Amino acid sequence: MKIQTIHTVYFSGTGTTKKVVSALAQTMAQALSVPVEEHCFNLPKAREQELAFGPADLVIAGVPVYAGRVPNLLLPYIKEKVKGDHTPAVAVVMYGNRNYDDGLMELRNVLTDNGFMPFAAGAFVGEHSFSTILGAGRPDGDDMALVDQLAKGALEKLAGEELGQIPVAVNGCDPIRPYYTPRDRHGEPIKDFLKAKPVTDPDKCVRCGLCARICPMGSIDPQDVSQVTGKCIKCCACVKGCPKGAKYFDHEGYLYHQHELEDQYAGRRAPSEIFL
Ligand SMILES: Cc1cc2nc3c(=O)[nH]c(=O)nc-3n(C[C@H](O)[C@H](O)[C@H](O)COP(=O)(O)O)c2cc1C
Ligand code: SF4
Ligand code: SF4
Repeated sequence: MKIQTIHTVYFSGTGTTKKVVSALAQTMAQALSVPVEEHCFNLPKAREQELAFGPADLVIAGVPVYAGRVPNLLLPYIKEKVKGDHTPAVAVVMYGNRNYDDGLMELRNVLTDNGFMPFAAGAFVGEHSFSTILGAGRPDGDDMALVDQLAKGALEKLAGEELGQIPVAVNGCDPIRPYYTPRDRHGEPIKDFLKAKPVTDPDKCVRCGLCARICPMGSIDPQDVSQVTGKCIKCCACVKGCPKGAKYFDHEGYLYHQHELEDQYAGRRAPSEIFL
């Protein structure tokens, strides 16, 4: 199969998805001597644009797993505006050391529905957006070695006559299960979790405006960055991206969930996995 361009198509609030899809694309592009084009759809403006690919393109599509699925507010963009035409694709999800549940299955299925041919896939662990100790420092050297293996396996498939089973078999349930729900100690859904928004420490903030420029929802008021005027998907781009450490969550339910996740999952190393 002759590929002329490799395209990365990804969302990455805190940079772990970008790290994996970029490395995968670079390794494959070098081997195939083709260019890489990057299509990051973090910003609202980027999601206005339709992306259409053909049979000579190879798309590496990546998203973080949110609540065990493709992030629900990004799904309409992927469904409606990212289109293939017999386009070979590699599906990549990142997850924060808990579980990727049906996230990879859902991404793979959406790609298939949209005219792509997902022939390889991977689920990799990234440091959890909510934490600095859950999946700390991942994807690390071992994860990146597996990214390399995925690149090699995908290249071998591309070199053959057939891409194998399309779509490639991946872990997860189909039909896709409901979103994972953060729960309190009584098993009840955490109250107002979806309404949690980050706050700003006025003593630390230097009003550089970076958080407002990078918020994927365009929800931080550039005139007054302490105001989150629109939806917050809790991607933590502003929290981890603020150069002064001025952004944080003080929402009781959010903090309860963060600590619960850390207590349950920080002590183990969840696996990164590839599917060929
Ligand atoms: C709202 C939200 C929900 C998340 N849900 C899950 C989850 O269900 N399972 C999991 O293991 N990690 C979960 N994570 C963690 C991210 O999937 C993980 O940190 C990923 O590496 C982030 O990718 P990024 O750096 O490209 O933003 C969640 C993160 C956020 C912000
Ligand atoms: S990125 Fe940090 S320092 Fe800059 S405006 Fe936002 S909160 Fe303030
Ligand atoms: S305000 Fe919410 S959606 Fe915007 S960058 Fe911060 S965590 Fe992400």
